[in-house]
Amino acid sequence: MVNAGGHVAIYPGSFDPITNGHLDLIERGAKLVDKLIVSILRNDSKQPLFTVEERMEMLREVIGRFPNVEVDSFDGLLVDYAARKKATVILRGIRAISDYEFELQMALMNRRLGPDIETIFLMAGEAYSYISSRLVKEVFGLGGNISGLVPPAVEARLRKRKGI
Ligand code: PNS
Repeated sequence: MVNAGGHVAIYPGSFDPITNGHLDLIERGAKLVDKLIVSILRNDSKQPLFTVEERMEMLREVIGRFPNVEVDSFDGLLVDYAARKKATVILRGIRAISDYEFELQMALMNRRLGPDIETIFLMAGEAYSYISSRLVKEVFGLGGNISGLVPPAVEARLRKRKGI
């Protein structure tokens, strides 16, 4: 089913913080749909490094060059949020086979909860397939070099957070 405004996709996640792997997925995903909404889960049980507002700011700083990409946040069930946004697609990335199991569970649960919304997976770009927000934070926290793993604006924010 195509909406009057065309295909809307949601790219949901924690984005704590956005990495170059996420950015690559946004760039490729945005070409497949009319509107891509990158949306941050608000009620996450994980202890995030950045607040939702900070994460939204960082996303906005780096998606400027994509005219059909928006940044948002959501609470509650993803399928309910997607329906409110009139989205027909959930976009997720898969890096290694280890991502597959959790992604399959989520996709099947979301299909059960919202049969009209299709989850579409893109394979992470090969240059980014080992990058995760968790590892970026760990490496940065231990003084390692993270340039090339996250957008420069995110690296600057991590430095500011650490006071360097
Ligand atoms: O970046 P992440 O942490 O892998 O993203 C996980 C996310 C936000 C996509 C997932 O936790 C989610 O969609 N949560 C919303 C709650 C929900 O709908 N749960 C049931 C479907 S699995």
